[in-house]
Amino acid sequence: MLSRKIGIDLGTSTMRIFVKGEGVVINERSPIEFERDSPRTLHHLIGMASGRPRLFKPDVIVSVPSAVTSGERRRVTEAAISAGARQVWLIDEPLAAAMGAGLPIGELRASAICEIGAATTEIAVIAHSGTVIERSIRVGGYAIDRAIASRLLISEGDAEEVKIAVGSAMPMDQPLVMHLGSVEISSNQIVEAIEEPIHRIAAAIRDVLEETPADLADDIRDRGIVLSGGGAQLRGLDRYISMRAGIPAKVAEEPQTSVVRGTGMALENFEVLKRNQSYLR
Ligand SMILES: Nc1ncnc2c1ncn2[C@@H]1O[C@H](COP(=O)(O)OP(=O)(O)OP(=O)(O)O)[C@@H](O)[C@H]1O
Ligand SMILES: [Mg+2]
Repeated sequence: MLSRKIGIDLGTSTMRIFVKGEGVVINERSPIEFERDSPRTLHHLIGMASGRPRLFKPDVIVSVPSAVTSGERRRVTEAAISAGARQVWLIDEPLAAAMGAGLPIGELRASAICEIGAATTEIAVIAHSGTVIERSIRVGGYAIDRAIASRLLISEGDAEEVKIAVGSAMPMDQPLVMHLGSVEISSNQIVEAIEEPIHRIAAAIRDVLEETPADLADDIRDRGIVLSGGGAQLRGLDRYISMRAGIPAKVAEEPQTSVVRGTGMALENFEVLKRNQSYLR
């Protein structure tokens, strides 16, 4: 292997890098107010992942939210090239997530993925190595934190802690309880607080199913949808989505790294690369 193969996921809350043969080598908080297409960010990441000696420029693939504009796609690409990439591909986040989650994306039968990040949730129906329908909504972990913060009158940082410690999408028979200062917070308070944002995720999945051609929608009803991204780890979210969207739902293994592992897999998948934009230096 002459050139290193590097996959990059520039998440709103966390940036991750996958290097072929090494796995996920960088998993660090994104700078506040970071810009996805900032040359500095990509210089920093590609520099760290390139290794030494740098005899050959690396091949780089970067995941981008499906909603980013063509201008932003071009700037990400240019930033990666100026940061030393030999060849750059961009891949839509949901497709990368589906690959990382192990979905059989090459089949003619359809698979479905719901990637719940910090800022956005992206839902896609995928068949024959390509995306058939996709939808992105600006609801993710941050929106869930904001709903908890405004209900309990606490900061968003505390709200995230509460969400991870005791949060639940479904009422629990034996709710978890935690203390924040002198206040006691139980899982079932969170269930009520977050109903609005998680309902929007389920509704978006239903909308996608309605737009999906009938035979592919049947595949999805049959196979269900895989939940991925950090937000997928919310307790009971799989059962909530199953109930509200009316299809089976299950959480991917290691959901927070599906996208970046998927970018690495895409670099090895000719069918997928062929369908994606590529830029040669
Ligand atoms: N156990 C958990 N339960 C619920 N939410 C969680 C849990 N662990 C992490 N999260 C949430 O997951 C979100 C981060 O997920 P992820 O790393 O996939 O986002 P990102 O890739 O940085 O963002 P985006 O894809 O929107 O740009 C945060 O909002 C975090 O609070
Ligand atoms: Mg993400």
